[in-house]
Amino acid sequence: MIQHMINNHDKVVTRGLRDVAAAETKISFVDPLGTLYYLGYNIDALVEHVCYEEVVYLILYGKLPTKNELDELRSQLISEMQLPEAIVNSIKSFPLTSHPMEVLRTEVSHLSMYDPDPDYTSEQANRRRAIRLVAKVPTIVSTLHRLRTNQQLVAPSDEFGFPEHFLYLFRGKPADSEEKESIDRFMTLHADHGFNASTFAARVTASTNSDMYSAVTCAVGTLKGPLHGGASEKVMYMLDDINTEAEVEDYIQGMLDDQKKIMGFGHRVYRAEDPRTKHLREIAENLCHRTNTLNLYNLCIRIENVVHEKKKIFPNVDFYAAVTLNALGVPFEFFTPFFASSRVSGWTAHVMEQYKDAVLLRPSSRYVGEYGRPFVPIEKR
Ligand code: SDX
Repeated sequence: MIQHMINNHDKVVTRGLRDVAAAETKISFVDPLGTLYYLGYNIDALVEHVCYEEVVYLILYGKLPTKNELDELRSQLISEMQLPEAIVNSIKSFPLTSHPMEVLRTEVSHLSMYDPDPDYTSEQANRRRAIRLVAKVPTIVSTLHRLRTNQQLVAPSDEFGFPEHFLYLFRGKPADSEEKESIDRFMTLHADHGFNASTFAARVTASTNSDMYSAVTCAVGTLKGPLHGGASEKVMYMLDDINTEAEVEDYIQGMLDDQKKIMGFGHRVYRAEDPRTKHLREIAENLCHRTNTLNLYNLCIRIENVVHEKKKIFPNVDFYAAVTLNALGVPFEFFTPFFASSRVSGWTAHVMEQYKDAVLLRPSSRYVGEYGRPFVPIEKR
């Protein structure tokens, strides 16, 4: 026992696993100096030159697709968007008070019972499963929104590309060219991001050789938290709380004095500006211009300046994502589900990479509790 205690106390705890490399990955690299690469391609180039479906192909197959490969993936995605009737009925049955992320978490888990593929282990079957999830997660989100707002469900059609299809199913009307480009870029920018918490959760689950649906269910539950993807919804509540640019300074100072975190700011990895921010800022500005909500955009710029002045921290992906989705007509509580609908491509790719690595992810801990407490029978406690 003494020997065990010595080993235990020698253990170094890396709080929050900060800077701990838990595995090798080829999927994305988050450079702390402010660059993001998917499979070696700088995100700045991808967001300008390729569509989201190409990014999905890149992430799932490790290379950019040819025209034929892209067409094939796109038609697979569209045909996989349809949900089993049982899932639609189940979505109808949830209390109106449930958060869309709760519904999404439950329905991703539920979907596993309707997976048509009898092969649970081969890489090809898992890639088919990944495509199924990438296609169906946005439909779950859209179906929930349509049902909650008493609007007719919209059937998928092969008229549109995948991201605009998502908006079409969600809002029930085709996106115009600027909206189409905005949602495409939004989804590209959210597709993957190293070993973020939800991806890590998915990989831990996959490391036990559990199935892809279980891994993605864990990821959805992890993304939901406000320190992760749940922040974008909270950004909007903050913007709602602040009425004018003149109030920003006092509001932010009040938050900092109360030791509260400013939602949409700070990052575990980046020491410089999050490279996704400049793109989302630009998308948000254009959309706000069109929707006459430039007041919100200007408020964001003011908040960004004040927070940087006071804390030297930058906005992360969730900050301008919030204003972007708001301008696309997405209700606040659906912001994180839109993030999940894009990140599901990264999650599934990481699950497949983890299966290949074939090692159980199981860290250690330093026990700081007591030893040898005398046992007291229940009647004497
Ligand atoms: C995402 O990991 C990923 O890659 C995630 C993500 C992805 O694509 O998957 O990029 C998406 O999750 C973005 C993050 C969304 N979350 C938020 O916006 C919530 C607000 N931000 C934070 O609470 C915080 O910045 C985290 C959680 C994002 C990062 O936390 P860390 O790395 O543990 O940093 P920390 O809390 O230890 O902060 C370090 C310092 C502290 O100051 P000091 O004590 O050193 O003076 O920075 C301060 C913090 O107080 N700080 C903030 C702050 N973020 C950091 N202060 C006020 N408001 C903030 N938002």
